[in-house]
Amino acid sequence: MSDILIHTEASVCTVTLARLDKKNSLTSSMYGELAQALRAAQHSADVRVLVLQGSETVFCAGNDIDDFIQNPPDSLEASVFQFLNALLEFPKPLLAGVCGPAVGVGTTMLFHCDLVYAGDNAVFSMPFVNLGICPEAASSLLVPSVMGYQRAAQALLLGEPFMAEAALEVGLVNQILPPTELNAFVQRQAAKLANKPLKSVLETKRLLRGHHLPVLQKRMREEAQLLAHMLKEPAAKEALQAFKEKRKPNFAGL
Ligand code: COA
Repeated sequence: MSDILIHTEASVCTVTLARLDKKNSLTSSMYGELAQALRAAQHSADVRVLVLQGSETVFCAGNDIDDFIQNPPDSLEASVFQFLNALLEFPKPLLAGVCGPAVGVGTTMLFHCDLVYAGDNAVFSMPFVNLGICPEAASSLLVPSVMGYQRAAQALLLGEPFMAEAALEVGLVNQILPPTELNAFVQRQAAKLANKPLKSVLETKRLLRGHHLPVLQKRMREEAQLLAHMLKEPAAKEALQAFKEKRKPNFAGL
């Protein structure tokens, strides 16, 4: 069975991350499936809204660390960048339901969503520096623009996690709910949008976001090239190996 479940009903396409034994971390093949699902939903007349969700205990633990070591993304064609581009360019409403940890891309993908709902157990983190790498998904532009510079520096330089309440306060999250109620609530919000006049919804999203697109595409490319390069360097190698060996990384001299 695939680790990505896709279900379309009443014009709402729901994409569920379902690799619970590895905390919904994403491999290159999962990114490929996600990219395909988004592009298919973008072009399908049967889809008016897309929902991204995990389970009640975990949203997404970021990039699969083993896969980062074995299949590091080394060009803009890599499936992770295909997914991020599909997300950035998705013209229909994107909703996310987040419970439990949302690490790395698990958090950065949310900055591309139009509405984000969190369980009260949600924990967001972007520990790129702790992994010897750099931000992705245009998060180096989007995080400060949503959260303000100092809070972005705390999240991106120190890599400090923040909870649902803080995410609500900074404007990353629209509403907090009990985890057991979250996915059903998100479906109700999606259904509301699916029943609104499509052209009004699409044009409003385009007007809200469209003018930022070229700038974000450019930043995403810059970040992707840097990330591909940094993954081959000693700091990232040490951090990724340390995660595998369940120990603290040693960055002395790096
Ligand atoms: N890549 C690969 N495997 C991962 C993973 C990842 N990003 N995140 C979790 N896993 C695996 C663990 O290695 C563990 O596998 P095992 O049972 O074979 O030992 C399993 O998922 C459960 O993870 P565990 O750490 O025991 O769960 P937890 O509830 O204590 O913590 C997280 C959950 C998400 C907070 C923690 O796993 C974590 O920090 N993961 C790494 C996140 C990360 O750095 N991602 C990269 C961002 S770019």
